[in-house]
Amino acid sequence: MKAWILDHQAPIDEKPLQLVELPDPAPGPRQVRIRVLACGVCRTDVHIAEGDLPLHRSPVILGHEIVGVIDAVGEEVNRWKEGDPVGVTWLGRTCGSCRFCRSGRENYCPEFLATGWDLDGGFAEYTIADADAALALKDVPLPIEELAPLMCPGVAGHCAFRLTGARVGDRLGLYGFGPTADSLLRVARHLGIEVYVSSRSEHNLRRAREHGAAWAGNAAESGMPVTLDASVIFPPAGQLVELALRDVVIGGTLVLAPVAMTPIEIADYSRNLWGRDIRTLYNVNRRDAAELLELAAHVDLALGAEVFAFEDLPEAMIRLRHGQLKAANAVVRIVDR
Ligand SMILES: NC(=O)c1ccc[n+]([C@@H]2O[C@H](COP(=O)([O-])OP(=O)(O)OC[C@H]3O[C@@H](n4cnc5c(N)ncnc54)[C@H](OP(=O)(O)O)[C@@H]3O)[C@@H](O)[C@H]2O)c1
Ligand SMILES: [Zn+2]
Ligand SMILES: [Zn+2]
Repeated sequence: MKAWILDHQAPIDEKPLQLVELPDPAPGPRQVRIRVLACGVCRTDVHIAEGDLPLHRSPVILGHEIVGVIDAVGEEVNRWKEGDPVGVTWLGRTCGSCRFCRSGRENYCPEFLATGWDLDGGFAEYTIADADAALALKDVPLPIEELAPLMCPGVAGHCAFRLTGARVGDRLGLYGFGPTADSLLRVARHLGIEVYVSSRSEHNLRRAREHGAAWAGNAAESGMPVTLDASVIFPPAGQLVELALRDVVIGGTLVLAPVAMTPIEIADYSRNLWGRDIRTLYNVNRRDAAELLELAAHVDLALGAEVFAFEDLPEAMIRLRHGQLKAANAVVRIVDR
């Protein structure tokens, strides 16, 4: 098969990925082989390629927004058959037996292995996935290139949403309006939650209003117009934390979505933190991922994708890195042979 591999990290403008020919992989007893149709490009792929995150193995095939069709099934797998359309997220493998796995909190499993970091991912013609890491896509009414962004921004947004504990009638704040926040907004609106969006750029604010935000503006300048039951911060900007807490009601929750953040200072504990909970998004879990895909049958979750040919992956990564995409997401389409 053809695959893009990373064997040493370098600035993305130096195109660290190489297109190589590898033997077609074979699934283990509890695994499936997926013929990849599309794979979304995530900022995390850029972080791994450039060295912001350490290499966990080398070479590695990046890509954790995988959409494809099952092509071979391991002998112990009953759940899947050849031809089933499936997706794979960042959750590549968990141990299945620790106290976190046994209580549906496998995102905290100490043996969590990430797709496209610890395990080979989707920037290849074929990928191997654990049978219980694959998600059924047959009832999700979206084109292939729109399914790929659901696998990371969609699923991560939904996990963040569930961490807020927001319910019908609540007011929810979102700080930063990328594809993850956009997905969360659409689900929250569908569930009867009012959403208040703080972002800086006019195009993000316009998109938030178009998708049903009750208010969109820059809360760093004006504050939020109302007190919120919960908020989520998406960009890795620590200075937003105390700002966001100020507008969360006593008894409310602030969720931090980033995987890394600039330093956080909370200068006035009694006034801005006391009585609120802070939670962080740490990986994704199967229950929330499956729930998002069910919701996708009722909510328009087409988040927008600029499609690139498989051969143009390095260009897609450069454009993503420099904020030059024509849509909210970049997706590499792997044409059927
Ligand atoms: N924890 C996990 O396991 C996990 C899994 C998946 C994703 N994530 C995280 O979820 C987040 C979602 O990413 P995303 O791709 O949807 O969008 P993002 O990178 O968070 O950016 C969203 C928006 O935030 C605004 N922004 C960026 N930098 C800012 C700053 N310094 N101060 C204020 N606003 C800023 C920008 O909008 P404006 O220009 O309009 O301000 C940007 O479009 C990321 O942080 C990602 O790491 C976490
Ligand atoms: Zn991702
Ligand atoms: Zn475990």
